[in-house]
Amino acid sequence: MSYRTAQIRLVSSHPEVYEPCDDSFALVDALLADLTNLLEHKPSLCIEVGCGSGYVITSLALMLKEKVPDTYYVATDMNPDAVRVTRETLEAHGVDAELIITDIVSGLEKRLEGLVDVMVVNPPYVPTPEDEVGKSGIASAWAGGEDGRAVIDRILPIADTMLSERGWLYLVTLTANNPSQICRQMRERGYASRIVVQRSTDEESLHIIKFWRDPEIRPSLKETTAPNSESLLSQFSRFSFWKGGNSGGSL
Ligand SMILES: C[S@@+](CC[C@H](N)C(=O)[O-])C[C@H]1O[C@@H](n2cnc3c(N)ncnc32)[C@H](O)[C@@H]1O
Repeated sequence: MSYRTAQIRLVSSHPEVYEPCDDSFALVDALLADLTNLLEHKPSLCIEVGCGSGYVITSLALMLKEKVPDTYYVATDMNPDAVRVTRETLEAHGVDAELIITDIVSGLEKRLEGLVDVMVVNPPYVPTPEDEVGKSGIASAWAGGEDGRAVIDRILPIADTMLSERGWLYLVTLTANNPSQICRQMRERGYASRIVVQRSTDEESLHIIKFWRDPEIRPSLKETTAPNSESLLSQFSRFSFWKGGNSGGSL
């Protein structure tokens, strides 16, 4: 039997590992929504930072398996139990990835710098006291510090270093993370962005944002107002009233 995404009944679990949740499903839905582009993109190397149960990296591997069989997958998590559970989830679906217990991509920089064609990240994004960030076990799955940006803000420059010239980043953010500011910061690094999926519940509004290097955007870390930031801001305010389902917008 071949599946297009990981099957929940085959996803392994552990009390200290984040179970697939609305944000994980939204990220996989974003990858599915962009699948035609991903298949054309033919990524050589895909990486997931913070793989948790393995639901996302397994789904990505299943989506690409048939048409892009030579893609190499790497997944990291700082929680050793998550890496063990991801191994079991991958095996249960007959796909493979190199799994590394590490902080973001620490120790992989030299080996993978400039080589990553697709990076997927569902980071800890929940606003919490700063001292809850990076604690061992399940707390590290959600604790994002002030504005939920502690880990996200570390990942952005790392993504810029790791991504290949044609590399794409898919990032889960919450409204409280100020996603339009994240997009402006990436624009200052030369990246265009697009909301691939937006999901709202009574409690939160999730945006799955895709970033890619745009040759027409001149990187300027000093820039504070990107030329196109107005259209981006209107995108976020437009979607903040939207409830349920998938949507997308382009800059
Ligand atoms: C919100 S969960 C997402 C899990 C999985 N990707 C999913 O979508 O279901 C965030 C994951 O990131 C991991 N994590 C948190 N901080 C990290 C860091 N600094 N480096 C690597 N992994 C981290 C957590 O252990 C957790 O598994």
